[in-house]
Amino acid sequence: MADPKKLFIKTYGCQMNVYDSTRMADAMAADGYVTTEKADDADMVLINTCHIREKASEKLFSDLGRLRPLKVAKPDLKITVAGCVAQAEGAEILRRAPQVDVVVGPQSYHRLPEMLRAGGQVVDTDFPAEDKFDHLPQGRGHSGPSAFLTVQEGCDKFCAFCVVPYTRGAEVSRPPERLLAEARALVARGARDISLLGQNVNAYHGDGWTLARLIRALAEIPDLLRIRYMTSHPNDMADDLIAAHGDVPQLMPYLHLPVQSGSDRILKAMNRKHTRDDYFRLIDRFRAVRPDILLTSDFIVGFPGETDADFSQTVDLVERVGYGMAYSFKYSARPGTPAAEKAAVPDDVADARLQALQSLLTSQQRAAQDAMVGRTVGVLYEKAGRMPGQMVGKSDHLQAVHVTDANGKVGALVQVRITASSANSLAGVTIS
Ligand code: 5AD
Ligand code: SF4
Repeated sequence: MADPKKLFIKTYGCQMNVYDSTRMADAMAADGYVTTEKADDADMVLINTCHIREKASEKLFSDLGRLRPLKVAKPDLKITVAGCVAQAEGAEILRRAPQVDVVVGPQSYHRLPEMLRAGGQVVDTDFPAEDKFDHLPQGRGHSGPSAFLTVQEGCDKFCAFCVVPYTRGAEVSRPPERLLAEARALVARGARDISLLGQNVNAYHGDGWTLARLIRALAEIPDLLRIRYMTSHPNDMADDLIAAHGDVPQLMPYLHLPVQSGSDRILKAMNRKHTRDDYFRLIDRFRAVRPDILLTSDFIVGFPGETDADFSQTVDLVERVGYGMAYSFKYSARPGTPAAEKAAVPDDVADARLQALQSLLTSQQRAAQDAMVGRTVGVLYEKAGRMPGQMVGKSDHLQAVHVTDANGKVGALVQVRITASSANSLAGVTIS
């Protein structure tokens, strides 16, 4: 038998891209490809791209530049660009980087093996009517106790800074019975913790189901021990989803609810369609049903028109909420979005604000880590630790935990008393 062909995948961006990359690897496996960790060995290099900020697309072109000599040395090497830069730039990628064979947008992955078999250079950035996930093998490549499951894609919100509604298209929810079947397949392969993914996950409406109803149905699957979902928009937070946090034990005390800014004026300019008070009220409702919930968010600083007073409102919001973790970004003008037309905040001002916000968020993260010491939490083991007799896993709140446990097994969920904390991880011992 011929040696299997080797596929090297580099993934940028969000967890939805990570999920898409595994599904593409599954599709290519059907055509005899196995994945490799080294680009030099590969018969095909697949770069799954992100377009959310400018730097993300610059990285693609520098990667492609580095691949040029490899393609010269190995003319049969196939180079595929997938993801949101593929969608946004299409044929422009072939013009700037003629060494590329296939450019495929996020909705056409299922056609990838066919495109490669056809040969020649291909660009496919359609939004086909069929569901790509129905044409991709299910859960086959999955291993390990944590898995992602994309339940919804696209976004109709049109925040003024964001390319997602253009690159990923309108909101589409996958049918619940397919998701339940895929979740069962993932659990059969060892998944114990499933994160439901969507650009606007709490707008899920597959076959008229709400996200809360889907979560309750998933919670019936034996051996599925933990459920999370991300990313949510404040305006789609339904009463039944908040209630589920109070009474579905598998739904973890963790919520990623981006607010982007703490200033009402900037929230309006961003087209977020909610106020800071709306956000505070929502957080209060989550904390009322689940007092130990760990909150995370995304922030953008230096949005066009942001003044010092606006930025102070963001700092004030962060201080009032108290996040366990958060991402903050300097605004990056994306071509084709409404905000890209507006005058930018000077770079040095935006840099200084980013630094100030990041140091506040880092200190909040540290405080959240330290507050765990002395508490008992669930930890799902993901791998053996570097020290003998040690396991590494994730807490209910998604914090990394090193546990002293000579008999620990990957995939086990154990109760752990936290004994020490550092900026990015916790240490603990099992309780019997
Ligand atoms: N500039 C900077 N950050 C952005 N994000 C989205 N678009 C932009 C942009 N143009 C951030 C938002 C979003 C996260 C995924 O990326 O905070 O929640
Ligand atoms: Fe982008 Fe999220 Fe706004 Fe949708 S809700 S436009 S994905 S930032």
